[in-house]
Amino acid sequence: MGKLLVVRGDITREETDAIANAANCSLLGGGGVDGAIHRAAGPRLLEECRTLGGCRTGEAKITKGYDLRAKYVIHTPGPVWHGGGYGEDELLRSCYLNCLKLASENGCRSVAFPSISTGVYRFPLDRAAKIAVTAIRDYLAEHEEIEEVRMVCFDARTQQAYEAAARS
Ligand code: AR6
Repeated sequence: MGKLLVVRGDITREETDAIANAANCSLLGGGGVDGAIHRAAGPRLLEECRTLGGCRTGEAKITKGYDLRAKYVIHTPGPVWHGGGYGEDELLRSCYLNCLKLASENGCRSVAFPSISTGVYRFPLDRAAKIAVTAIRDYLAEHEEIEEVRMVCFDARTQQAYEAAARS
């Protein structure tokens, strides 16, 4: 079974086959990790994103990585947290599973994820970390083509939450 690693860093510097982007439904860029990925990939990323017609929450779309080290970017709009009664947990799980499915379909063996929805979208961090780790492990258990998934945490608090989720 492929391994799940929790690391601290900037996802735009990852050398995995694909990196996931915590996007919004327009897929036309934004702040946070989305802005960082667009800056590092260069303007051709936005050009390709304009052709995609947006993306629903919990679903995912793939583009090339352009100036990134990663060959692909897999864009997924996470759920905005509205208190937990609006399907947020299931939508967040779908984000991870749909990204991994696209990675498999495109021959990727390694994928890096940011902490989807826990920034501007305000999803509670510990809860998001448990959902992410469970979804990734469930996928890895059934798809041996993915050898490594890296959870790339931008700050210490995020790293601690994912490390705790990965231990349990
Ligand atoms: N590498 C890894 N993680 C990062 C980086 C980076 N370079 N930069 C920020 N993070 P957020 P969301 C972390 O707000 O909550 C955008 O405007 C950040 O510290 O980027 O899903 C989109 O366009 C946090 O832990 O994403 C959407 O409109 C995590 O990435 C909206 O924000 C996610 O924070 C999506 O909100």
